[in-house]
Amino acid sequence: MDPLEPSPVEVCLTLLLQKTVANPYYKRYINGLELQGNERILDFGTGAGVCARHLAARLRKAGGHLTCLDISRVWQAVSRKTLKHYHNVDYLLGDITTLNLPAASFDAVFIHAVLHDLDVSARPEILRHLARILVDGGKMFVCEPLGVKGFSPDDLRGLMRQNGLEEIDARIIRRALMAPTYQGVFRKKAG
Ligand SMILES: C[S@@+](CC[C@H](N)C(=O)[O-])C[C@H]1O[C@@H](n2cnc3c(N)ncnc32)[C@H](O)[C@@H]1O
Repeated sequence: MDPLEPSPVEVCLTLLLQKTVANPYYKRYINGLELQGNERILDFGTGAGVCARHLAARLRKAGGHLTCLDISRVWQAVSRKTLKHYHNVDYLLGDITTLNLPAASFDAVFIHAVLHDLDVSARPEILRHLARILVDGGKMFVCEPLGVKGFSPDDLRGLMRQNGLEEIDARIIRRALMAPTYQGVFRKKAG
């Protein structure tokens, strides 16, 4: 079995959890993001597409477009189903470090519960590529649980700084039964 691919049980449990318990939280978080609605947004690590659906709904109102990127064929198939009613969405399958996406081709990058899961050694290269595809002044929205595989906001800030991004908002969210979660917004400086 491909280690990058989820089992059918994992897919079912994830959908069950995300579409019930987590969905109101996702909706509130995404509706609270400062977006015009006309942006081109890359959702890095779309998974089941439950967050992406709220993003696509916001972008649909004002002519924006969502690109869902995932390295997993199975998760991409699941997200296509979740998002089947949205026509302002396209899909990329693969690794951001080898996909050769054009520089400055997105107004924002959305990262929800992906970075903490990556090997620490993989994070710098991935963030370098995500920063490269962002326009000057573009935003990166990051939401990650703390303390998993050594994920820390300070390390993230360091990697973002190396790629010309400054943190413009940061908060730690604490909810019952869930790990504390970092939510940050970074802006790419000009030049
Ligand atoms: C924990 S899930 C989060 C999914 C979604 N963002 C959410 O919050 O519901 C992590 C997702 O990131 C994807 N992923 C992991 N490494 C990736 C990479 N290098 N490039 C693209 N996607 C990746 C996984 O396949 C998986 O779908």
